[in-house]
Amino acid sequence: MALADDIARVLFTEAQIQDRIRAMAAQISRDYAATAPLLVSVLKGALYFMADLSRAITIPITIDFMAITSYGDETASTGAVRLIKDLDEKITGRHVLLVEDIIDTGLTADYLLRTLRARDPASLNICTLLDKAARRIVDTLPIQYRGFEVPDEFVVGYGLDHRQLYRNLPFIGVLKPEVVSASR
Ligand code: PRP
Repeated sequence: MALADDIARVLFTEAQIQDRIRAMAAQISRDYAATAPLLVSVLKGALYFMADLSRAITIPITIDFMAITSYGDETASTGAVRLIKDLDEKITGRHVLLVEDIIDTGLTADYLLRTLRARDPASLNICTLLDKAARRIVDTLPIQYRGFEVPDEFVVGYGLDHRQLYRNLPFIGVLKPEVVSASR
């Protein structure tokens, strides 16, 4: 049985995702020309977006990664997170762009921003591929670039997982409800 059989409907095809990323990268290349920004992403969900976005950017950049664990349950963020891998680079005085696959409640991004802001970057903004705005708890996030808005459903693919699976789907889709409920 193929992984894609568990998808109820496709929200964004591979071509739509790549088109949108090219447009976002072009905008970032214009906005950050001459600043050599540092793109920071959080493992693991943002891996695919980071890889494609960074390759589509045409100005000099550096990349770095953080890893966190959340103390919440498997499908809902509580905002209680712990840093398990910090950045390798210093960010003081740098122009930093936090690259996320999805902003849901916003609690994770809020925690990361507070952590990074304390290190005095020259600027700090967010670039997210997906925005599930309907579930937002923290509404003060500096989201400068946003790929697509998504409905409040269980979306997987292109980095987004359900129990660590489906990340490698090249498109983004809604998981069949029976797949979600069967694993609960
Ligand atoms: C996802 C995503 C964000 C966070 C968004 O990560 O990558 O970091 O959830 O949710 P929030 O806005 O409600 O805080 P997840 O915890 O699923 O880990 P993963 O990146 O390893 O998939």
